[in-house]
Amino acid sequence: MMLLKLIHLLSVLIWVGGMFFAYVVLRPAAVETLDPPQRLRLWDAVFSRFFNWVWVAIVALLISGVYMIYLYGGMAHAGRHVHIMLALGLLMIALYGHVFFAAYRKLNRHVAAQNWKEAGEMLGKIRKLVGLNLALGLLTVSVAVIGMAL
Ligand code: HEM
Repeated sequence: MMLLKLIHLLSVLIWVGGMFFAYVVLRPAAVETLDPPQRLRLWDAVFSRFFNWVWVAIVALLISGVYMIYLYGGMAHAGRHVHIMLALGLLMIALYGHVFFAAYRKLNRHVAAQNWKEAGEMLGKIRKLVGLNLALGLLTVSVAVIGMAL
């Protein structure tokens, strides 16, 4: 159980911590220092690396979470915080799927073709969805930790 929790927490750390850094630190710094084409190229390169880690984190999060529920004896024996966590976690994964398939892949193509206007629109979409997912991630961690203590 301890190893599963460690894998679970490391996955959360990579995913939510990465979103925090991207949204709160890198985004304003990039706006301050780079022109739009350079900024779009930077985000394309950042996402192409970060999103590989997010896929790994999601798989590890799901496997460790579902296995912990199995060890608890199924959802009927899991606390209410686990039910809420599962629902919020699935919502976060769906939003991430949208970021990746409906926005990032287009951003990647537009940057390669130097269509800066369209690429900028996709980056704006990703920014909103990542902001929402970051808020959901922080909420999910709060539900998990406070729920465990109750
Ligand atoms: C998507 C499917 C998920 C499943 C099935 C799942 C399941 C679980 C389970 C069974 C536990 C152990 C609870 C306990 O011992 O009382 C746990 C702990 C935890 N989960 Fe999740 N979880 C999921 C997603 C998430 C997400 C998306 C986050 C955060 C963004 C998260 C954050 C945490 C945290 C912080 C803990 C507490 C670990 C500790 O302090 O021991 N989980 N999760």
